[in-house]
Amino acid sequence: MRGERFLTGNERFLALDDIIVSKTDLTGRITYANRTFLKIAGLTEKDCMRQPHSLIRHPDMPRSIFKRIWTAIEAGDEIFAYIINRAMNGDHYWVYAHVTATRNRAGDIIGYHSNRRAPDRAIVDDLIVPLYARLRHVEREPKNGKQAVEAGCEALDSVLREKGMEYDEFIMTLGQGSRRGYRTGREADLGQADCQA
Ligand SMILES: Cc1cc2nc3c(=O)[nH]c(=O)nc-3n(C[C@H](O)[C@H](O)[C@H](O)COP(=O)(O)O)c2cc1C
Repeated sequence: MRGERFLTGNERFLALDDIIVSKTDLTGRITYANRTFLKIAGLTEKDCMRQPHSLIRHPDMPRSIFKRIWTAIEAGDEIFAYIINRAMNGDHYWVYAHVTATRNRAGDIIGYHSNRRAPDRAIVDDLIVPLYARLRHVEREPKNGKQAVEAGCEALDSVLREKGMEYDEFIMTLGQGSRRGYRTGREADLGQADCQA
C-alpha cells in the first residue's frame, strides 16, 4: 500500500559540505527551509510552509528521541541528535542535527531552528541503528503513546546509566575515539587512520 509511510528502502546522502536548515514556530510548524532541505526531502517551499515538521518523520525514529529534543529546546537548551528522515517519495536519509531555540532581543523563545549535516556512517550503522531499534522495540509494547514514550525514555536512560554519561556527553563522544563512549573495532580503526593521516 502506498500510504503516508510508504518506504522505498533507498537511501539519499548529503554531500560533506551540505547543511540542511529549517526553522519552526513554537509548535514545530515549519517557517523556513533552505534549498538543501527541500531538495533532499523532495519538497517545495509551498508543500512544507506551516506544516508540522513531522511531515518528514520516519517510522524508525524513536518517540523518546523526539521527547528528549523537545524537552531540551523548550527549556532553552541546545541538543544534538542523529535523525533518520523520510523523503516524500519514501526514500530515507540520515542527518546529524543540532536543534536549538530562536530568541528575540528580549530573550524570549520565539521558535526553534535546526542545522544538519552528513553523519558519520560508522556511528549510524554500528551504534545508532541498533540503539534506535532497541528503543523502537520497547516503544512498541505499551498500549498508548504516552506509555510508549516513557518506556523509550527509560530504555535510553538505562543505556546512559550503563555508560555513566548524560545524553549530551554520550552523543558528543560517539566516534571521537573516546575511552568512555561507545567504541567499536571499526571506530578504533577510524581513529587509527586519523592519527596516521
Ligand atoms: C527545529 C526543529 C526541527 C525538527 N526536525 C525534525 C526532523 O528533521 N525530522 C523529524 O522527524 N522531526 C523533526 N522535528 C520534530 C518534530 O517536530 C516532531 O516532534 C517529530 O517529527 C515527531 O512527530 P510526532 O510526535 O507527531 O510523531 C523537529 C522539531 C523542531 C522544533
